[in-house]
Amino acid sequence: MRDNDESIINLDDAYALETPEDNKNLYRNWASTYDADFAQRNKYIYPKTIAAICAQLVDEDSPTTVLDIGCGTGIVGTCLADSLTKSIIDGVDISPEMLHVASTKLRLSRDLVYRNLFEVDLTKPISFAKTKYDVAISAGTFTHGHLGPNALINVFSAVRPGGLMVVGINKEHFSANGFSAALEMATDNHIIGTPTFSEVQIYDEGSPHYGDLALVATFLVLSPA
Ligand SMILES: C[S@@+](CC[C@H](N)C(=O)[O-])C[C@H]1O[C@@H](n2cnc3c(N)ncnc32)[C@H](O)[C@@H]1O
Repeated sequence: MRDNDESIINLDDAYALETPEDNKNLYRNWASTYDADFAQRNKYIYPKTIAAICAQLVDEDSPTTVLDIGCGTGIVGTCLADSLTKSIIDGVDISPEMLHVASTKLRLSRDLVYRNLFEVDLTKPISFAKTKYDVAISAGTFTHGHLGPNALINVFSAVRPGGLMVVGINKEHFSANGFSAALEMATDNHIIGTPTFSEVQIYDEGSPHYGDLALVATFLVLSPA
């Protein structure tokens, strides 16, 4: 289903995606209009909220290395760089077109938001990271579609022991797709510390999607696989 204007890609199109290839095809066409037609129009506040949760947990004076998982056009990284001005942020995404938009994003200082951007399929084992990150952050990536708990667990290997993860997971997707059991198992096996969860709005009041919720899981990676 599409908005009244048939040419506008919307949330239902994104939620209908089943394979990595479906994603590449949708985001190829969506990248150039995503920020204005999707994020602004729908009052998409999730990246800003997640960046704020992360910024509260990180020393703003340290050059913390951060991996933005499913960075898309770079909204999360841009919000984070506004608070953590010394952060060094890399992004990964499957869509070269979304990554191209992210590569143009600027910090308040006018420096680029992202140091490196990697074209990566998160359903595959992670091999791009030459060093492990202090922090991994994500909004809007673990949503209806193909990226389930296994993809989240794959990302642990990109984070240094003792590093922090701040990951938003669509609440319905969380319940339907076994995130709880996967995180419990990782906790029991001492791969991660016990997660804390906060429930957040994905869209602001006044959005047609107001009321869609995400759980933001915050935890330390203890011993990545
Ligand atoms: C809804 S967008 C969220 C983008 C950004 N984090 C934000 O909040 O605006 C979901 C992103 O996940 C990416 N994605 C989907 N499947 C992927 C996969 N298998 N590997 C890597 N990235 C993927 C898409 O290309 C897209 O940029």
